[in-house]
Amino acid sequence: MGSDIIRVENMEFKILLSEAAIEDILKKLADRINKAYAGKTVDIVIVLKGGYVFGADLCKLLTFEHRIHFVKFTSYEGLKSTNVIRNDVQLTEDIENKHVLILEDIIDTGQTMDHFLKQLETENVASKALCTFLLKPESLTVDLDVEFVGCEIDDAFVIGYGMDYNELYRSLSSIYQKI
Ligand code: IMP
Ligand code: MG
Repeated sequence: MGSDIIRVENMEFKILLSEAAIEDILKKLADRINKAYAGKTVDIVIVLKGGYVFGADLCKLLTFEHRIHFVKFTSYEGLKSTNVIRNDVQLTEDIENKHVLILEDIIDTGQTMDHFLKQLETENVASKALCTFLLKPESLTVDLDVEFVGCEIDDAFVIGYGMDYNELYRSLSSIYQKI
């Protein structure tokens, strides 16, 4: 799909970030993260499902040693959050005394990451930080400390680059925003 406008059901989406724009954001983000963690071994937690594309792309640019883990949360249905967070996949590895870096595709209300960070409070980690490719600052309903942000966007639904509408469109290489 090379078009700048795509139709999904009766909605229109316009291109927000092209593949080149995404690559640029990734490089800048990786640069900051590489500086922050130079010389350390880091336990990276990719948040599924949405984080699988961003997580894979970002990790290829990291220059420090890292292990990769997955968790899976579900909160969205259609165009908005249900405010009920399901934790379908949990961490199985021991992260005690580890540097934990969480990679999320997008932070909207912040409820999912608030929930996960509260789970981690009982683990004795050496450090924890949150990295998201996209952040919708106007949508946040909780006070969340997000260390690394790829790009801030306004409060409109997006698809592509891992992000879905009812489980579809995750494989689009660019990011599209609902008009
Ligand atoms: P939050 O708990 O409201 O911050 O939402 C977190 C999760 O909802 C993200 O990890 C995404 O999986 C999903 N989500 C939030 N906004 C969007 C969007 O605009 N498009 C697709 N998924 C989204
Ligand atoms: Mg997600």
